[in-house]
Amino acid sequence: MAKVWSKRFDNTLNPFIEKFNASIGFDRKLFLEDLDCSIAHAKMLGKTNVLSSSETLEIINGLKLIKVEYLEGKFFPSPPSEDIHYCIEEKLISLIGETGKKLHTGRSRNDQVGTDIRLWLRKEIDNLEILITDLQKSFLNLAQSNIYTLIPGYTHMQRAQPLSLAHHLLAYLEMFQRDRERLKEVRSRVNISPLGSAALAGTKIKIDRKFTAAELGFEKIYKNSIDAVSDRDFCIEFVSASALVMSHLSKISEEIILWVTDEFSFAKLTDKCATGSSLMPQKKNPDVPELIRGKTGRVYGHLQALLTMVKGVPLAYNKDFQEDKEPIFDTAETLSSCVKAMTILINEGLEFNFENLSNSVENDFSNATDLADYLVSKEVPFRTAYQVVGEIVKYCLERKILFKNLKIDEFKKFHPEFDEDVFVDLEPFNVVKSRTSLGGTGFTQVEMEVKTWQKKLFP
Ligand code: ARG
Repeated sequence: MAKVWSKRFDNTLNPFIEKFNASIGFDRKLFLEDLDCSIAHAKMLGKTNVLSSSETLEIINGLKLIKVEYLEGKFFPSPPSEDIHYCIEEKLISLIGETGKKLHTGRSRNDQVGTDIRLWLRKEIDNLEILITDLQKSFLNLAQSNIYTLIPGYTHMQRAQPLSLAHHLLAYLEMFQRDRERLKEVRSRVNISPLGSAALAGTKIKIDRKFTAAELGFEKIYKNSIDAVSDRDFCIEFVSASALVMSHLSKISEEIILWVTDEFSFAKLTDKCATGSSLMPQKKNPDVPELIRGKTGRVYGHLQALLTMVKGVPLAYNKDFQEDKEPIFDTAETLSSCVKAMTILINEGLEFNFENLSNSVENDFSNATDLADYLVSKEVPFRTAYQVVGEIVKYCLERKILFKNLKIDEFKKFHPEFDEDVFVDLEPFNVVKSRTSLGGTGFTQVEMEVKTWQKKLFP
């Protein structure tokens, strides 16, 4: 097929280089966005009288016909078209003839591709907003029914202090909320129109950039035509915000993987989300959280790729930028599928083992801080209380017993301020209940938080 390039070329491309140069294999994802961009551009050219009204109509109808053929599966963008932009232009010319050759008046593929990827990303971000909200809802539902379920809390992966399971789950709701806010902010920098910047310098053709921006739902237009065709910051920001969502998904994945081990036994995977081993019949594997954890690396890789892609590239458009697409396409796809998978896992993939959870918090020293705080309530300075409890822990460890197994006389040997009521304070339920500081795991705090989230997510 003859290229649309100018007649300055005498020879055709080396076939390998032709393939090497092409992006049609992946930028066909921008098909609908490219059509929308062209329709807005053609309308604008009609409005400014660069095109006559009949030419405008012919072009727009041609583009709409291409859309119908595409949606009906009758037209599939493919080589030898170099990219989606040429592909649609070539198709238009083949459909409506000479008038089709007027579509590219006053624009370049540089502002065109920039417009397409922004439209595509904006749609993806809107979709992610819905998916992450659904994920939050699944966490909230689980939290709601587990306010009074206790789970050991860890620091350094060592038993620290018992927690309300709901409090643990609500921590993720907070992270996902920040993720949504970040994506919303990114969206505001995606939603700026570069269209009409042409190759890099603007154009002498009478165009109306504000018109096309409004047609395409952009909030603003780029002020500088060179910046407009050079900016890929928004792609990096998108992948960066996505990488953070993945890091949160990976964190909960890792916790679930631990929870369902025989060693922890805090939960079991239901058959809906567990997979078997090809060899060992007894196994039930946490493939879903493992995959999410694994895919996190892939998104981090895309972030690195994009940062490196823009490094040292001079103004304005350089072909390096063709490499922006696969990372953002794959990031959006990976992220949305991981968010969906995690939502399903939280909704129907986990069964908590309540007996084991309550045994775990009963049989450790995670109430040691409370023993110290007990003395503090009797006016003992914290550092002294801390040392006293350290001695008691050692004493218990040597005898392989827990605080609750000590007699009150034994307690008193360590400090005279200990009294019978210490046993009440040591009970894990009371330990959790007592953490009433703002944002703490105390049940009243957690109940309040659950209510606040309910209002926010199920208004
Ligand atoms: N396929 C190209 C890309 O994705 C479109 C823009 C090409 N512009 C150019 N001046 N060669 O970046």
